Amino acid sequence: MNYLSNKKIKNKRIILRCDFNVPVNDGNISDDSKITKSFKTINYLLENNNTIILMSHFGRIKKEEDKKSNSLKIVYEYLKKYYDLEFINNPLELEIINNSTKKIFLVENTRYTDIPLKRESANDLELAYYWSKFADIFVIDAFASLHRAHASTAGLSKYLPTYLGFLVEEEIKNLQPLITIENRPFLVIMGGAKVDDKIKIIESIINRCDKLIITGGILNTFLKVKGYNIGGSLVSSDEEVLTCIKNLLINEDDKIFFSNNFIVRRNEKNLNIKIEEMEDNDIILDNIVESSLLDNLNMVFLNGTCGKYEEEPFGEGTKKLLKDLSNKDASIYVGGGDTVSAVKKFHYQDKFTYISSGGGATLEYVAYNKLKALEYIKDNDASK
Ligand code: 3PG
Repeated sequence: MNYLSNKKIKNKRIILRCDFNVPVNDGNISDDSKITKSFKTINYLLENNNTIILMSHFGRIKKEEDKKSNSLKIVYEYLKKYYDLEFINNPLELEIINNSTKKIFLVENTRYTDIPLKRESANDLELAYYWSKFADIFVIDAFASLHRAHASTAGLSKYLPTYLGFLVEEEIKNLQPLITIENRPFLVIMGGAKVDDKIKIIESIINRCDKLIITGGILNTFLKVKGYNIGGSLVSSDEEVLTCIKNLLINEDDKIFFSNNFIVRRNEKNLNIKIEEMEDNDIILDNIVESSLLDNLNMVFLNGTCGKYEEEPFGEGTKKLLKDLSNKDASIYVGGGDTVSAVKKFHYQDKFTYISSGGGATLEYVAYNKLKALEYIKDNDASK
């Protein structure tokens, strides 16, 4: 793989794929870190007199109406504060670039091309070829999107010499200890809400770690499979997921741990209870991980929160876990959008070994030691 840091690229036209898929609340970008983390690559390319065509996806486009709420215009407005750039309203109208004197462009959400036929998401090579005609080089800096082999993350490499940007390089280097796992015992803590999205990762990651703590909303389904009453709590009803969990609990029982300490909502009141005390209408909203579960470890990967941390008092479990981890003499790695937001909310961003900009990408990298876009680029890079 070619790293941008090893190559002086001057006076070229570059397609720079970033991950500008930032969270937006009330019309404002609530966490700009994914954008600012690509500044190093953008500035380096500008300093060397290159023309940059910035591309990114933003949300998911399944139907025409999704376009309005998933426009990259909000990121354009943000970037305008730093760069003199032009916005290209349609990812299928890059011809505008040829008649402009600007050195930097931001193309509208690449997933707009998923309507009516999936083009970006299905890695349509005609689409990749069309984009490639406007550039000499492809630089991929979208670490958080590397688990997607899409036209703008992978397909472009077939037609353009491809380089990994500074952010991708930083992520790969910093996450390396989670891949080589020389530092044991290695604890993985998986939380968050959606077990259906994470079950395959859990099945794989369990083979790489020494101990797995399940917490957050995903724990509810494990508890249900174990036969506990979880009241009206969030739970998966997907048969395949339930079977996976059942098998995990049979085959990996000695590695999977959870803490029997919950905050539930019962009739407008919040109660601290054990799972055996659950009543039919209770809703689990937080899980307090006992400190004793965190004994004897040298490396930790944390993905997901313990509860509905955005709403008091359900941030207590997440806050306590972050505090306990920050006091450990161990390497602590954190990944995942919500997890990183919680780390920031509770001011632990300087307390851990590394905070990754990836969510699903970091999970897949740690679980499988592979990222689909990188695998594609390895096999197809036009500079080979
Ligand atoms: C992320 O936020 O994890 C990445 O931007 C990928 O987004 P996606 O899950 O919609 O592909």
